[in-house]
Amino acid sequence: MEIQEITASGLKPQEFIQEKAREIAATVGDGVAINALSGGVDSSAVTMLGHKALGSKLKTYFINNGLMRKDEPEQIVSLFAKFGVKVEIVEAQEKFFQALKGITDPEEKREAITQTFYKDVFGKLVRESGAKYLLQGTILTDVDETVAGIKRQHNVFAQLGIDPQEVFGYKIIEPLVQLRKDGVRRVAEALGLPKSTFNRMPFPGPALCARVIGEVTPEKINTVRIATAVVEEELASSGAFQYMAILHQDRVTGIRDGKRDFGLQIEIRCWDSIDARNAGPTRLAYEQLDKLVKRMVTEVPGVVSVTYNITAKPPSTMEAI
Ligand code: XMP
Repeated sequence: MEIQEITASGLKPQEFIQEKAREIAATVGDGVAINALSGGVDSSAVTMLGHKALGSKLKTYFINNGLMRKDEPEQIVSLFAKFGVKVEIVEAQEKFFQALKGITDPEEKREAITQTFYKDVFGKLVRESGAKYLLQGTILTDVDETVAGIKRQHNVFAQLGIDPQEVFGYKIIEPLVQLRKDGVRRVAEALGLPKSTFNRMPFPGPALCARVIGEVTPEKINTVRIATAVVEEELASSGAFQYMAILHQDRVTGIRDGKRDFGLQIEIRCWDSIDARNAGPTRLAYEQLDKLVKRMVTEVPGVVSVTYNITAKPPSTMEAI
């Protein structure tokens, strides 16, 4: 069945919220539902909507997959505590790294994350909590790109002919699936979330794994995590839609302390976009790039080469895998 898009300009946020809260409450009934909060605008909006609809019948978890950015779990738990939403952190780093071991193909990496997240980690939480529903923030762009075969977004099932009830043992509710990112931001604002959340830069479900080319290891994630913190600090004032650091698999010869250093390469991308369907590189000032590169080679261990990618989407995609 075709999903009926609600454009940001046609959206009435308060009516949308009331309607979706009613639908969620009616679907879940007397049961219990669970959801995973990553702190992004989509999952934050779903968490607030779910709590409006279900109150304490919704259990919210932050899955620490070991692939998140610096200090992310703690910041999110403390933000939602202010809204009276209790978020339980589930430590699952080892499971994810184990599942990713030895995998280099981008779609296989995404599949490993999907299976670990939905089958292993969520399957267990569902059994323990007795929940029959998982509430999640899939948006229309996720569905489009998966159906088009561009990228298998980690959170899309029905459109691929996968029945979550059969495969994972629970049903999935997707209240935001008619919206794109700009519409979700308006809903998040109307739900009372702070600007730092409703304007938050998108971050992919597969997290930093989408920014490591080749096999993902804790060491490589650590490198890209430090590089990400540098890029996010330096480009915070750029006003761009999204900016990121990518760790390449190939090494190149560099010089460190007067000696040969066969070192790491970081690629920086900074995107202008409205809804992530199309995007173009931000025309960053040379001085800004220069400062960024100097910090990158001094603060990120092992990096001897930094590039800035100016390709548009399409033919590029925004994330590297
Ligand atoms: P791409 O790389 O497909 O990214 O051009 C478009 C937007 O979607 C984000 N992205 C994802 N978000 N799960 C998500 O929730 C995913 O698997 C995923 N892959 C990409 C990306 O950060 C960008 O904003």
